[in-house]
Amino acid sequence: MPRLRLPRIVFFGRTAEEYARIWKLSLADLAGLRILDCPCGPASFIGACHDAGIDAIGVDPMMAFTVEEMRRTGLKDIEDTMAAIESSDAGLASSDPETWTAEKHQALEHFLVDFRRHGPGGDADDGRYVAASLPNLPFADQSFDMAFSAHLLFSYASVENGGLVESSKALDLAFHLDAVTELARVTRQELRLFPAVIMASDEGGPHPWVDPIRDRLRSLGFEVRMESSDYDEGLTTSNALLIASRGAVED
Ligand SMILES: C[S@@+](CC[C@H](N)C(=O)[O-])C[C@H]1O[C@@H](n2cnc3c(N)ncnc32)[C@H](O)[C@@H]1O
Repeated sequence: MPRLRLPRIVFFGRTAEEYARIWKLSLADLAGLRILDCPCGPASFIGACHDAGIDAIGVDPMMAFTVEEMRRTGLKDIEDTMAAIESSDAGLASSDPETWTAEKHQALEHFLVDFRRHGPGGDADDGRYVAASLPNLPFADQSFDMAFSAHLLFSYASVENGGLVESSKALDLAFHLDAVTELARVTRQELRLFPAVIMASDEGGPHPWVDPIRDRLRSLGFEVRMESSDYDEGLTTSNALLIASRGAVED
Protein backbone atom coordinates (compact mmCIF):
# COMPACT_ATOMS: atom_id res chain seq x y z
CA MET A 1 0.00 0.00 0.00
CA PRO A 2 1.21 3.56 -0.68
CA ARG A 3 2.44 5.99 1.97
CA LEU A 4 0.03 8.54 3.43
CA ARG A 5 -0.19 11.69 1.32
CA LEU A 6 -2.57 14.61 1.80
CA PRO A 7 -3.95 16.61 -1.14
CA ARG A 8 -3.45 19.99 0.56
CA ILE A 9 -3.21 21.64 3.99
CA VAL A 10 -6.45 20.40 5.48
CA PHE A 11 -8.87 22.35 7.70
CA PHE A 12 -8.92 19.55 10.24
CA GLY A 13 -8.99 20.07 14.00
CA ARG A 14 -8.56 18.07 17.19
CA THR A 15 -10.57 18.21 20.39
CA ALA A 16 -9.43 20.09 23.50
CA GLU A 17 -8.76 16.69 25.14
CA GLU A 18 -6.45 15.79 22.25
CA TYR A 19 -4.73 19.17 22.58
CA ALA A 20 -4.02 18.44 26.25
CA ARG A 21 -2.26 15.22 25.23
CA ILE A 22 -0.41 16.90 22.35
CA TRP A 23 1.03 19.65 24.58
CA LYS A 24 1.22 17.62 27.81
CA LEU A 25 -0.65 20.49 29.46
CA SER A 26 -4.14 20.54 30.94
CA LEU A 27 -6.37 23.61 30.89
CA ALA A 28 -5.59 23.97 34.61
CA ASP A 29 -1.89 24.30 33.69
CA LEU A 30 -2.78 27.28 31.48
CA ALA A 31 -4.74 29.22 34.11
CA GLY A 32 -3.78 32.89 34.19
CA LEU A 33 -1.75 32.70 30.98
CA ARG A 34 -2.40 34.36 27.62
CA ILE A 35 -2.32 31.70 24.92
CA LEU A 36 -1.85 31.72 21.15
CA ASP A 37 -2.90 28.76 19.01
CA CYS A 38 -1.68 29.10 15.40
CA PRO A 39 -2.99 27.44 13.35
CA CYS A 40 -6.15 26.90 15.36
CA GLY A 41 -8.00 25.18 12.50
CA PRO A 42 -11.47 23.92 13.48
CA ALA A 43 -10.19 22.62 16.82
CA SER A 44 -12.28 22.98 19.98
CA PHE A 45 -9.31 24.20 22.05
CA ILE A 46 -9.96 27.97 21.95
CA GLY A 47 -13.59 27.57 23.02
CA ALA A 48 -12.57 25.20 25.82
CA CYS A 49 -9.94 27.69 27.03
CA HIS A 50 -12.49 30.51 27.26
CA ASP A 51 -15.02 28.22 28.97
CA ALA A 52 -12.28 27.64 31.56
CA GLY A 53 -11.57 31.38 31.90
CA ILE A 54 -8.33 31.31 29.92
CA ASP A 55 -7.49 34.18 27.57
CA ALA A 56 -6.68 32.39 24.30
CA ILE A 57 -6.54 33.52 20.67
CA GLY A 58 -6.83 31.25 17.67
CA VAL A 59 -5.23 32.34 14.41
CA ASP A 60 -5.77 30.74 11.03
CA PRO A 61 -6.31 32.07 7.49
CA MET A 62 -9.60 30.16 7.42
CA MET A 63 -10.99 32.51 10.11
CA ALA A 64 -11.77 34.95 7.26
CA PHE A 65 -14.50 32.59 6.01
CA THR A 66 -18.16 32.29 7.02
CA VAL A 67 -19.47 29.57 9.32
CA GLU A 68 -21.10 27.80 6.39
CA GLU A 69 -17.96 27.96 4.26
CA MET A 70 -15.93 26.59 7.15
CA ARG A 71 -18.44 23.79 7.81
CA ARG A 72 -18.32 22.77 4.12
CA THR A 73 -14.52 22.86 4.02
CA GLY A 74 -14.19 21.11 7.39
CA LEU A 75 -16.55 18.26 6.46
CA LYS A 76 -14.85 17.72 3.11
CA ASP A 77 -11.39 17.79 4.68
CA ILE A 78 -12.36 15.20 7.33
CA GLU A 79 -13.70 13.00 4.54
CA ASP A 80 -10.65 13.46 2.31
CA THR A 81 -8.22 12.92 5.20
CA MET A 82 -9.91 9.70 6.26
CA ALA A 83 -9.96 8.50 2.63
CA ALA A 84 -6.24 9.28 2.33
CA ILE A 85 -5.51 7.35 5.55
CA GLU A 86 -7.62 4.38 4.48
CA SER A 87 -6.00 4.12 1.05
CA SER A 88 -2.49 4.31 2.52
CA ASP A 89 -0.40 2.02 4.68
CA ALA A 90 -0.75 4.47 7.60
CA GLY A 91 -2.44 2.85 10.55
CA LEU A 92 -4.39 4.86 13.08
CA ALA A 93 -3.37 4.12 16.64
CA SER A 94 -7.06 4.01 17.50
CA SER A 95 -8.48 0.57 16.85
CA ASP A 96 -11.73 2.36 16.21
CA PRO A 97 -11.42 4.76 13.22
CA GLU A 98 -15.12 5.65 13.53
CA THR A 99 -14.64 7.04 17.03
CA TRP A 100 -11.50 8.85 15.90
CA THR A 101 -13.42 10.42 13.00
CA ALA A 102 -16.39 11.24 15.25
CA GLU A 103 -14.03 13.19 17.53
CA LYS A 104 -12.99 15.33 14.55
CA HIS A 105 -16.65 16.03 13.70
CA GLN A 106 -17.22 16.88 17.36
CA ALA A 107 -14.24 19.30 17.36
CA LEU A 108 -15.53 20.94 14.15
CA GLU A 109 -19.06 21.38 15.52
CA HIS A 110 -17.82 22.78 18.85
CA PHE A 111 -15.55 25.15 16.97
CA LEU A 112 -18.36 26.34 14.67
CA VAL A 113 -20.72 27.01 17.60
CA ASP A 114 -17.98 29.00 19.36
CA PHE A 115 -16.91 30.84 16.20
CA ARG A 116 -20.50 31.80 15.29
CA ARG A 117 -20.87 33.66 18.62
CA HIS A 118 -17.35 34.84 19.32
CA GLY A 119 -15.76 35.12 15.88
CA PRO A 120 -15.71 38.24 13.69
CA GLY A 121 -19.26 39.57 13.30
CA GLY A 122 -20.66 37.30 16.04
CA ASP A 123 -22.96 38.79 18.70
CA ALA A 124 -20.27 38.18 21.35
CA ASP A 125 -17.18 38.82 19.22
CA ASP A 126 -14.31 39.16 21.68
CA GLY A 127 -11.42 38.87 19.23
CA ARG A 128 -10.62 35.27 20.13
CA TYR A 129 -10.48 34.23 16.45
CA VAL A 130 -8.18 36.14 14.12
CA ALA A 131 -7.73 35.64 10.38
CA ALA A 132 -4.01 35.80 9.65
CA SER A 133 -1.29 33.64 8.16
CA LEU A 134 2.16 32.73 9.21
CA PRO A 135 4.73 34.13 8.82
CA ASN A 136 2.89 37.39 9.67
CA LEU A 137 1.03 37.71 12.96
CA PRO A 138 -0.79 40.94 13.87
CA PHE A 139 0.38 41.01 17.49
CA ALA A 140 2.94 42.97 19.49
CA ASP A 141 6.23 41.39 20.59
CA GLN A 142 5.87 38.94 23.49
CA SER A 143 2.10 39.36 23.70
CA PHE A 144 1.45 35.70 24.58
CA ASP A 145 2.78 33.76 27.56
CA MET A 146 2.64 30.53 25.56
CA ALA A 147 2.22 29.81 21.85
CA PHE A 148 1.21 26.48 20.31
CA SER A 149 1.48 25.35 16.71
CA ALA A 150 0.28 21.86 15.78
CA HIS A 151 -0.03 20.02 12.50
CA LEU A 152 1.25 22.73 10.14
CA LEU A 153 5.02 23.01 10.46
CA PHE A 154 6.93 19.82 9.53
CA SER A 155 3.68 18.03 8.51
CA TYR A 156 3.23 20.14 5.38
CA ALA A 157 6.78 19.98 4.13
CA SER A 158 6.99 18.11 0.82
CA VAL A 159 7.11 14.32 0.83
CA GLU A 160 10.80 14.56 -0.19
CA ASN A 161 11.40 16.75 2.87
CA GLY A 162 9.62 14.50 5.34
CA GLY A 163 6.09 15.90 5.02
CA LEU A 164 2.75 14.84 3.60
CA VAL A 165 2.15 16.90 0.46
CA GLU A 166 3.58 17.22 -3.04
CA SER A 167 6.13 19.98 -3.50
CA SER A 168 3.77 22.44 -5.26
CA LYS A 169 1.59 22.50 -2.11
CA ALA A 170 4.43 22.29 0.40
CA LEU A 171 5.88 24.72 2.94
CA ASP A 172 9.63 25.06 2.41
CA LEU A 173 12.45 25.56 4.90
CA ALA A 174 12.49 29.35 4.40
CA PHE A 175 8.79 29.45 5.33
CA HIS A 176 9.45 27.30 8.40
CA LEU A 177 12.24 29.58 9.62
CA ASP A 178 10.17 32.74 9.03
CA ALA A 179 7.14 31.18 10.74
CA VAL A 180 9.10 30.07 13.79
CA THR A 181 10.80 33.49 14.03
CA GLU A 182 7.39 35.14 14.00
CA LEU A 183 5.92 32.74 16.58
CA ALA A 184 8.98 33.37 18.77
CA ARG A 185 8.57 37.14 18.41
CA VAL A 186 5.07 37.10 19.92
CA THR A 187 5.95 34.56 22.65
CA ARG A 188 6.97 35.72 26.12
CA GLN A 189 7.70 32.37 27.78
CA GLU A 190 7.30 29.20 25.77
CA LEU A 191 6.59 28.01 22.24
CA ARG A 192 5.57 24.41 21.49
CA LEU A 193 5.56 22.79 18.02
CA PHE A 194 4.09 19.39 17.15
CA PRO A 195 4.71 16.92 15.58
CA ALA A 196 8.40 17.61 14.90
CA VAL A 197 8.85 14.35 13.06
CA ILE A 198 9.23 12.82 9.63
CA MET A 199 5.69 11.95 8.58
CA ALA A 200 4.39 8.68 7.21
CA SER A 201 7.69 6.96 6.70
CA ASP A 202 9.36 3.92 8.19
CA GLU A 203 12.38 6.09 8.94
CA GLY A 204 10.46 8.21 11.43
CA GLY A 205 12.53 10.17 13.90
CA PRO A 206 12.96 13.91 14.26
CA HIS A 207 12.18 15.98 11.19
CA PRO A 208 15.33 17.11 9.32
CA TRP A 209 14.36 20.75 9.88
CA VAL A 210 14.39 20.42 13.67
CA ASP A 211 18.11 21.29 13.64
CA PRO A 212 17.87 24.56 11.66
CA ILE A 213 14.76 25.54 13.62
CA ARG A 214 16.52 24.83 16.92
CA ASP A 215 19.45 26.96 15.73
CA ARG A 216 17.11 29.80 14.80
CA LEU A 217 15.29 29.65 18.13
CA ARG A 218 18.56 29.57 20.07
CA SER A 219 19.77 32.63 18.16
CA LEU A 220 16.58 34.35 19.34
CA GLY A 221 17.32 33.56 22.98
CA PHE A 222 15.33 30.36 23.47
CA GLU A 223 16.43 27.09 24.98
CA VAL A 224 15.11 24.17 22.94
CA ARG A 225 14.35 20.65 24.07
CA MET A 226 12.54 17.69 22.59
CA GLU A 227 10.04 15.57 24.50
CA SER A 228 7.75 12.76 23.49
CA SER A 229 4.15 13.97 23.32
CA ASP A 230 1.35 11.99 24.97
CA TYR A 231 -0.61 12.15 21.71
CA ASP A 232 -0.26 9.24 19.32
CA GLU A 233 -2.39 9.14 16.19
CA GLY A 234 -0.37 6.22 14.91
CA LEU A 235 0.54 8.08 11.72
CA THR A 236 4.15 8.64 12.74
CA THR A 237 6.78 6.41 14.26
CA SER A 238 7.48 8.90 17.05
CA ASN A 239 5.64 11.79 18.69
CA ALA A 240 8.36 14.38 19.11
CA LEU A 241 7.25 17.66 20.66
CA LEU A 242 9.59 20.65 20.34
CA ILE A 243 9.55 22.98 23.37
CA ALA A 244 11.33 26.34 23.19
CA SER A 245 11.63 28.37 26.39
CA ARG A 246 12.70 32.00 26.37
CA GLY A 247 15.48 33.21 28.53
CA ALA A 248 16.57 29.85 29.88
CA VAL A 249 20.28 29.09 30.08
CA GLU A 250 21.65 27.49 26.89
CA ASP A 251 23.17 24.02 27.16
C1 LIG B 1 -4.34 20.33 10.04
S1 LIG B 1 -4.92 21.92 10.56
C2 LIG B 1 -4.28 21.95 12.22
C3 LIG B 1 -5.30 22.52 13.20
C4 LIG B 1 -4.97 22.33 14.68
N1 LIG B 1 -3.75 23.02 15.08
C5 LIG B 1 -4.86 20.87 15.07
O1 LIG B 1 -3.76 20.39 15.34
O2 LIG B 1 -5.88 20.18 15.10
C6 LIG B 1 -3.82 22.97 9.62
C7 LIG B 1 -4.33 24.42 9.56
O3 LIG B 1 -3.29 25.26 9.06
C8 LIG B 1 -3.93 26.38 8.48
N2 LIG B 1 -2.93 27.13 7.69
C9 LIG B 1 -2.60 26.96 6.39
N3 LIG B 1 -1.62 27.84 6.05
C10 LIG B 1 -1.35 28.58 7.16
C11 LIG B 1 -0.48 29.66 7.45
N4 LIG B 1 0.37 30.15 6.53
N5 LIG B 1 -0.48 30.19 8.69
C12 LIG B 1 -1.29 29.70 9.66
N6 LIG B 1 -2.16 28.69 9.43
C13 LIG B 1 -2.19 28.13 8.21
C14 LIG B 1 -5.07 25.74 7.71
O4 LIG B 1 -6.09 26.69 7.39
C15 LIG B 1 -5.54 24.66 8.66
O5 LIG B 1 -6.62 25.09 9.45
